[in-house]
Amino acid sequence: MKIAEARKLFPVFKNRTYLFSGGIAPANTRAAEAMQDHLDALTYNPSDYYHHSVHTATEVKHLFARLMHCDHDEIAITENTSSAINIATDLLRAKPGDNVVVDDFTYPSSIYPWLLPSHHGIEVRPVKQRDGFIHMQDIEKAIDDRTIALSVCHVSPFEGFRHDIAKLAEIAHACDAVLIIDGAQGAGAENLNLHESGVDFYGCCAMKWLLGAPGIGFLYVARKHLDKIPSRAGYVSGGFDVNNFKLVSNASRFELGKPSLMSLAYTKPGLEILLDLGMENVHKHILNLSGNIISGLKAHNIKVVTPEDPNHRMGIVAVHEHDADKLFETLHAYKIDLYAKSKTLPYYKGGFIQIAPHIYNNLEDVNRLIEALDAYHAQK
Ligand SMILES: Cc1ncc(COP(=O)(O)O)c(C=O)c1O
Repeated sequence: MKIAEARKLFPVFKNRTYLFSGGIAPANTRAAEAMQDHLDALTYNPSDYYHHSVHTATEVKHLFARLMHCDHDEIAITENTSSAINIATDLLRAKPGDNVVVDDFTYPSSIYPWLLPSHHGIEVRPVKQRDGFIHMQDIEKAIDDRTIALSVCHVSPFEGFRHDIAKLAEIAHACDAVLIIDGAQGAGAENLNLHESGVDFYGCCAMKWLLGAPGIGFLYVARKHLDKIPSRAGYVSGGFDVNNFKLVSNASRFELGKPSLMSLAYTKPGLEILLDLGMENVHKHILNLSGNIISGLKAHNIKVVTPEDPNHRMGIVAVHEHDADKLFETLHAYKIDLYAKSKTLPYYKGGFIQIAPHIYNNLEDVNRLIEALDAYHAQK
């Protein structure tokens, strides 16, 4: 399939300009059909459904592994990004006196687990942004021999800043720390090779760039960490022989019971669409559209927060906007969807909007958005 054909699979474009993939991807027609098939099986033949549909989880792991260039047995299915990162954090068994390096753009779900009472005595060290960038030298300075983990976002949702995972892994490993990546805004947008990147733990959700369902997440655990011991166990992690409990040797040891099979059924076609298009093409298309959005906004004197350098951005374009709620309402009335929030963030005070183009968007969407923003600012 060519990128331009993918749009037809997403009915939202019949009447909206959808630029909100950093929040949630719209449903595609194949996902809707897959859900209906599962519902029919559950309605008319639940016993067969019970026995066969569990394979959906394995199929989805295989597809995710192909997309992200890793092995399917290094993948655990989770509920979302936050649960994936929490599992990774828990596996490290940090001790008082250890520290964790994060940065100004790290998402709360990668910071809060370290602030729990069970992690008392562990220091969280935030690396400050400078001019909208997180500089590698600053990360190197923050890490020392008591650093147990470096934990950051691949692409940050409120700034659109993209880290180079391979460089981060080098820095972390030089001090015997592990690298934990929150890939919620990167997985399905970037053509990433998890094996080559050197990342230790990578968590993400299905519902954004991976075109899957809410309530499904993935945790990649690099093979060298597959012997780590989780603090929870279920029959998926340990099997059924209660007199001979032994954790399985793959990433299923980090799972507990039956996942949401219906949501996995929804997720599968999304991953297949990305594989069919080819992640190199997906990556190029997204970078091209986000680049066009940045240059279009700049041409209209709208200040962009996201770096222009393609090495430091991916699909998210963030713009500082004081009255973001009002702008959101205006654009919504024009049938343009994006993320807008009047809230205070560590990096910039006040509101912001997040524009996130994916495979189904095109330059017409970009132009429509820029014209609408221009008209909005001219009215003010
Ligand atoms: C970078 C990042 N991490 C985590 C999340 C939360 O994701 P989840 O609901 O899958 O835990 C988001 C949501 O926008 C995000 O942008």
